[in-house]
Amino acid sequence: MGKPQQSLAIVRTVAELRAQVTAWHKAGQGVGLVPTMGALHVGHLALVGRAKELAPKVVASLFVNPTQFGPSEDFSRYPRDEAGDAAKLAGAGCDLLFAPTVEEMYPQDFASSVSPGPISERLEGKFRPGHFQGVATVVSKLLLQCQCDVAIFGEKDYQQLQVIRRVARDLDIPVRIEGLPTVREPDGLALSSRNLYLSAEERAVAPALNRGLVIAADALRDGASGAEASAKGRAHVRQAGFDPIDYLEAVDVATLEPLLKLDRPGRILAAAKLGRTRLIDNIPVEP
Ligand code: PAF
Repeated sequence: MGKPQQSLAIVRTVAELRAQVTAWHKAGQGVGLVPTMGALHVGHLALVGRAKELAPKVVASLFVNPTQFGPSEDFSRYPRDEAGDAAKLAGAGCDLLFAPTVEEMYPQDFASSVSPGPISERLEGKFRPGHFQGVATVVSKLLLQCQCDVAIFGEKDYQQLQVIRRVARDLDIPVRIEGLPTVREPDGLALSSRNLYLSAEERAVAPALNRGLVIAADALRDGASGAEASAKGRAHVRQAGFDPIDYLEAVDVATLEPLLKLDRPGRILAAAKLGRTRLIDNIPVEP
């Protein structure tokens, strides 16, 4: 006989979510939230693992948020497998799945949005206009709906993490925002739901994006300027077959403004297309 399948309670309304979280809080149990868009991989399950270290009860949300996709982006083909995701979350020890409908999140007369300011305008924000407004709005809603004590986000989307930190601080949302380092394949490729789009040939080339970041970081540590180091990283990524490279840039770890030289902690962020698939990645770099 196979192992019995674990099942996970699923709620679809804010009222049901709040009722469960309130009951846990009344029982003195803190709550961690892991927001996701599904298509879960080991990186997401690591977020659940971290949430379990920080709070006795863990809620995951699954919502493919239409407002963070541009008109020519992959909203309609974004991978969806709620039953598979629920089984993975149950196996990881998650206590509740919040999987709202689009109507629950955005009723017909929905009109407000959260605009995160300058930190959302560079890098990803420049190439995906409106993206961070969509992210900031849905994440603010999820944090307020769940009333969680802590929320965990992957550093894979580093600019998103900084945007969310800024929004939670600016709007006094009473939650601790926690980032978790990127989980990678042995060859360096960052785990991403979008890796599912890669052909076998593209998958073989994909780790070059991470390698380009490492080359830029090494150059910075060897004394190159931010511009020179980034150019070296871009050359590697381009030669491997990525086209276009939207950006590969060394920036200040907190403001995400360009880093002229390695005189303080930095982060190197990149986004580039391999065939039809746009991949992003980033690594830290210390003086
Ligand atoms: O990182 C993601 O999966 C999404 O941007 C998030 C944070 C769940 C908001 O939709």
